[in-house]
Amino acid sequence: MAKDYVLPSLKDARKRDKNIADTAIFNLDEKYIELGKDKKYYIVTHGCQANQRDSETMAGLLDAMGYQTCDLDKNADVIIINTCAVRQGAEEKVLGEIGALKRLKMNNPDLIICIAGCMAQEEETVRIIREKYHQVDIIFGTHNITSLPKLLYEVYTTKQRKIEVFSKMGEIIENVPATRFMNHKAWVNIMYGCDKFCTYCIVPYTRGKERSRNKDDILFEINQLVKDGYKEVCLLGQNVNAYGNDIGDYSFADLLNDVAKTGIERIRFMTSHPWNFNDEMIAAIKNNTNIMPYIHLPVQSGNTHILKKMNRRYTREEYIELFDKLKKELPNFAFTTDIIVGFPNETDEEFLDTLSMVEHCEYDNAYTFIYSKRDGTPAASFEDNIDHKVKEERLQRLNEKVAYYANKNNQKFKDQILEVLVDGLSKRNSNVYSGYSKENKLVNFTGDNVKVGEIVKVKITEVMSFSLNGKLVEE
Ligand code: 5AD
Ligand code: SF4
Repeated sequence: MAKDYVLPSLKDARKRDKNIADTAIFNLDEKYIELGKDKKYYIVTHGCQANQRDSETMAGLLDAMGYQTCDLDKNADVIIINTCAVRQGAEEKVLGEIGALKRLKMNNPDLIICIAGCMAQEEETVRIIREKYHQVDIIFGTHNITSLPKLLYEVYTTKQRKIEVFSKMGEIIENVPATRFMNHKAWVNIMYGCDKFCTYCIVPYTRGKERSRNKDDILFEINQLVKDGYKEVCLLGQNVNAYGNDIGDYSFADLLNDVAKTGIERIRFMTSHPWNFNDEMIAAIKNNTNIMPYIHLPVQSGNTHILKKMNRRYTREEYIELFDKLKKELPNFAFTTDIIVGFPNETDEEFLDTLSMVEHCEYDNAYTFIYSKRDGTPAASFEDNIDHKVKEERLQRLNEKVAYYANKNNQKFKDQILEVLVDGLSKRNSNVYSGYSKENKLVNFTGDNVKVGEIVKVKITEVMSFSLNGKLVEE
């Protein structure tokens, strides 16, 4: 029985070695092909872009095994929930979802329910699922995605539950099939993992050490995307600035220059850590017109003492110095950020520093969160005497300020013509198209003969805080 379970260990996940990650080439074993014949799968994805991209890999593997995708969980033979562990709220939502699947399993005992993603990397979560959620058949971790075909095969043949979660992984696996969910914009992993160990964050434990993909593999992938008609790539990493540090003298700035040469129309990247955003990167961004005028630069807090407790590696003054330099060098760029309020024992004065940081930077948008305690991280043991109500009030005040500057920034687009990459019909109104401008602004617009995946010109007629409305400019 024991061999059916490879369980996560936070203690192992914390360890880092100096070895350069090996690259392995994936091949799908013949015995897994056709396993999915006449069967359907349904994937639910929570969390960040890394998870979105991982779900595309899971879909690619299942497609290669002969499965077909479906739109409703009740029609599926395999359901995968790809989970996020960054905040407690996201975890609770997933546990609710798994609970609700019990009914489907009762109606269809052959249904296979799989839990993947960052929650699968947590000891406590896996313990709870093992003990209380008997409807779950497979748990696989972020380092075990390519084991999905094997795990499904084993469940079909043994009828036993399988758990495979490696806590430490250095290997990069290339040649894994992927079924991308969009035909015009693509996520491209350039590196995996994170070594920054911000004290509140679970990601360095759930996604392992920083490993950069080989530049040739990245460029090959992007060249292929260009051939397939893709218009935009988003280069993904928890901290893209660190790209290449582990493998040699080829940096993120070098990669940006080379990706720009592929001729893809739009390039963006996320996430950049303010700590090592260097001048070479700024030069590469400035010199390549196909790099989108948009930078996401998480600040987390505007107070130096809190930043130190967060282990962010910069002071308030250093962040402002970098931000002002970027604003000066890249004047028409949009800037967004991430902010956490209510970090353990954050005082009113410390919070006011965060508000004044927003006033200084006048961000185009900010993703704001109340601090969420994550077991196993250093901040989980910090003393915290701040009432949750106070934290909620701070979030509200912060959000009002963020909305004010978002609106102020958007005003400059009134009556302007923006280039918009069309995503499809708006989620809220089926007579309206939506897409994103180069500045990564959401634009809703009307017009005839609009094609998804094309870049069109839109005249902005109305400005809101978090979106722009407009009309297609007929050419
Ligand atoms: N609590 C609240 N927010 C968090 N984030 C990461 N960990 C936590 C946590 N424990 C936020 C950070 C990060 C974003 C992706 O999620 O702002 O940049
Ligand atoms: Fe988490 Fe910090 Fe790494 Fe971002 S840089 S993933 S916040 S540890």
